[in-house]
Amino acid sequence: MRLFLYPSSLGLALLSTLVLGGPADKKDVQGDKKQPVATYMGAKSCKKCHSDQYKSWKKTTMAKSFEVLLPGKAEEAKKKAGLDLKKDYTKDKTCLPCHTTGYGKPGGYAIPPEGDSSAAKKLQKKATAMQGVQCEACHGPGSLSSKYKKKHEKYKWSDLVDKKLTDGVKFPDKENCLECHNDKSPTVKKGYVFDYDKRKDEGMHKHPKMDFKHGCPHTHTVSKKKKKKKKK
Ligand code: HEC
Ligand code: HEC
Ligand code: HEC
Ligand code: HEC
Repeated sequence: MRLFLYPSSLGLALLSTLVLGGPADKKDVQGDKKQPVATYMGAKSCKKCHSDQYKSWKKTTMAKSFEVLLPGKAEEAKKKAGLDLKKDYTKDKTCLPCHTTGYGKPGGYAIPPEGDSSAAKKLQKKATAMQGVQCEACHGPGSLSSKYKKKHEKYKWSDLVDKKLTDGVKFPDKENCLECHNDKSPTVKKGYVFDYDKRKDEGMHKHPKMDFKHGCPHTHTVSKKKKKKKKK
């Protein structure tokens, strides 16, 4: 239970991934009840209910951050970082955790097989759907909560907790960004400092007001830009 009450701490978030990140139903950490495991769905699955966030996220570089791994893209940044301009980094396991969503986790990005068998095609399609830094890279895998929200339009956070549908859910915060925005990234210098408050405003999706109070244990800020109608 504690895992779900304090998911914003990086340590616990990692722990919950390690403990609960298996492919199927697992025993609850506390005992006999089965704890369902959430899988990654892709941003399109969130779009129908969160079209404002989706539209503004689509415009961010994070939405397109898979393409920069291809040869011929972002050459200047690659040159500066001493990366190989001709290499196709889309199959490089060292890059994928930060440039895709849910890499190596259930439903998340996996390097697709070559070929045109129907099985290969299916995996290629799924991989395409998980490219780039999508909603679930910051919010956690959405299969369990989405399914519930579809049937219960005005759900409460406590419903999700009671029904054990919060596996993997994250409240994005600075620690969450630092999973990728750190100096293991080859294009940043050693000693790189990530300015959370600034960057949360400039390259993220917009944060419109929520429609109703769903009782989650954290606050939602509303984008300043949106509130003031683009006044500079
Ligand atoms: C630890 C996470 C991490 C890893 C690993 C990582 N990246 Fe990145 N990458 C980032 C982040 C974060 C940025 C954006 C940096 C910023 O603007 O603060 C970025 C930016 C880039 C850019 C610049 C894109 C542009 O629009 O100019 C390129 C190119 C890139 N990465 C290529 C790679 C390649 C190739 C690898 C593997 C060899 C890799 N990255 C591995 C996190 C990572
Ligand atoms: C799964 C990895 C990952 C996570 C988590 C992540 N980012 Fe990023 N972010 C990236 C990558 C990769 C890029 C580079 C995109 C590109 O240039 O192609 C990037 C780019 C950005 C940019 C745009 C940089 C620019 O120069 O245009 C901003 C702003 C940013 N991230 C903010 C955040 C914030 C705020 C969080 C946390 C709430 C966050 N990111 C979480 C991987 C991540
Ligand atoms: C780079 C990380 C990141 C990505 C990618 C991202 N979000 Fe968010 N999201 C956040 C952060 C951080 C907040 C909380 C902002 C705050 O309230 O201070 C947030 C808040 C939200 C909220 C709460 C209401 C609001 O707008 O504040 C919703 C709903 C949401 N995101 C949906 C989405 C959807 C849908 C996508 C994909 C289309 C997405 N997010 C992609 C980081 C991210
Ligand atoms: C069937 C509709 C539906 C789907 C699908 C859906 N959501 Fe939601 N979501 C909601 C509703 C309704 C709320 C409460 C919204 C409000 O108050 O305006 C919400 C709230 C949220 C919040 C803020 C609540 C919190 O606890 O922080 C986030 C973040 C969020 N959704 C992310 C996502 C992501 C990511 C996906 C895709 C994996 C997704 N949602 C899919 C309906 C949906």
